[in-house]
Amino acid sequence: MNNHILQIIYLIGSLSFIVGLKMLSKPNTARKGNLVAAFGMAIAIIGTIFLYEGIKSSNYIWIFGGLIIGSILGTVSAKKVKMTQMPEMVSLFNGMGGACAMLISAVEFNHLKHKYLNEALPQGQMIIIMLGLIIGSISFVGSIVAWGKLSGRLGDKTLGIQQVINIGLLTLILGLAAYMIFWSPSENDLYFYSIWAISALYGVLFVMPIGGADMPVVISLLNSFTGVAAAMGGFLYDNKVMLVGGILVGSAGTILTVVMCKAMNRSLTNVLIGNFGGNNNANTTTAAGGTIREINTGDTAILLKYASKVIIVPGYGLAVAQAQHVCHELEELLENEGINVKYAIHPVAGRMPGHMNVLLAESNVSYDKLIEMENINPEFATTDVVLVVGANDVVNPAAKTDPSSPIYGMPILDVENAKSIIVMKRSMKAGYAGIENELFYQPKTSMLFGDAKNTLTKLIAEVKTL
Ligand code: TAP
Repeated sequence: MNNHILQIIYLIGSLSFIVGLKMLSKPNTARKGNLVAAFGMAIAIIGTIFLYEGIKSSNYIWIFGGLIIGSILGTVSAKKVKMTQMPEMVSLFNGMGGACAMLISAVEFNHLKHKYLNEALPQGQMIIIMLGLIIGSISFVGSIVAWGKLSGRLGDKTLGIQQVINIGLLTLILGLAAYMIFWSPSENDLYFYSIWAISALYGVLFVMPIGGADMPVVISLLNSFTGVAAAMGGFLYDNKVMLVGGILVGSAGTILTVVMCKAMNRSLTNVLIGNFGGNNNANTTTAAGGTIREINTGDTAILLKYASKVIIVPGYGLAVAQAQHVCHELEELLENEGINVKYAIHPVAGRMPGHMNVLLAESNVSYDKLIEMENINPEFATTDVVLVVGANDVVNPAAKTDPSSPIYGMPILDVENAKSIIVMKRSMKAGYAGIENELFYQPKTSMLFGDAKNTLTKLIAEVKTL
């Protein structure tokens, strides 16, 4: 009877994941979608604890102890995290998923070993255990390295023959795993722990050389690894909700990886071995040269006040400055003056997918004002003023004109087609790709230097005085 109820709970849980994921695809339903999926996970956990016959009540102290500590840590870190640190947190949480899959494999290997004492271990279960161990370890260690790199604790490190070493290690891992599965050696502990250690080492060497700007793509890839590793746990325990959850995470992570690569017009191989974009605000690699024109908030206010159409281009700097609320205030002020204001959303503006949408939704910007790149690009030619707020790479014309540029081929926002362009940033420093931006030197462009939040606040005050 308990098992039947549990299967129904798993079905409801699985459906909640699918519905929740679907709702996450639109900004106005995303919050609810998150709650729907969390509800599915909560009933699956509670149902398993109380209805699954394999769980002894003597273990409740460990289970609830872990649940309470995990919930406190999760809640505090989610409340404290800044939007700009989200990729780091996602990476850390993803690493925990990989660690779970890896530990499940270790526990189940020990069970199997004791069950089949002096006998060959069953190949089917060993394949699943090995996959969970290898993928889970790579995902866990890789995610921790990615977290270290994003938080500035670790830099990019490349050995000269990195790719050869990586391919060698991967071949060794797969060879040892195949030997263990199909020939079941008597010293299986030695093989198991060697595979574990080499997979962890591979996780470090796989992520270490990847360029800073590519980290979100790698995190998404590691996320899909964790999903696959969790699905292995679903197979091991014949647990449908774990299987569905794992498959959904695995496929969503893979789709996201492909979408991001496409948005940057780069192949996954290029991301993994290209070393694109070093540490934040690296030195420039190409000199665009020329003279720049500076503007102050007073003159910018006049330009805006007499415009009939304004497009705001938000970028990573808007997130750093936490300027989304003042930006919305300026937008409302201009709209009240009868000016048509829209936001141009580049698919990789910021540091993670949907970064700008989430940020602007947080300050109640209406969703129909957020226009995707393909739809807004033809509109720049009929725009009076473009206000670039803390964006750089996503408006860099070198992506269209300079084949030697690391961002060549990446689709960008055609802001240079507008009548005037105001770029708000603190200095002439480069963006994440570490390259100069010739847009800043064009005659139609004016630089409005300063922290985005302070500058926007001053701008609002100036517009109000006109
Ligand atoms: P970036 O090119 O990184 O430029 C951001 C600019 O913001 C910087 O040049 C910086 O200049 C300025 N800034 C920083 N703090 C500021 C503040 N407090 N006030 C005002 N300005 C500030 O950003 P982007 O244009 O959004 O491009 C995103 C980059 O990330 C692209 O290279 C993209 O390929 C990469 N990337 C994104 C993703 C996703 S999914 N979003 C994934 C992979 C890679 P100053 O220092 O002079 O102020």
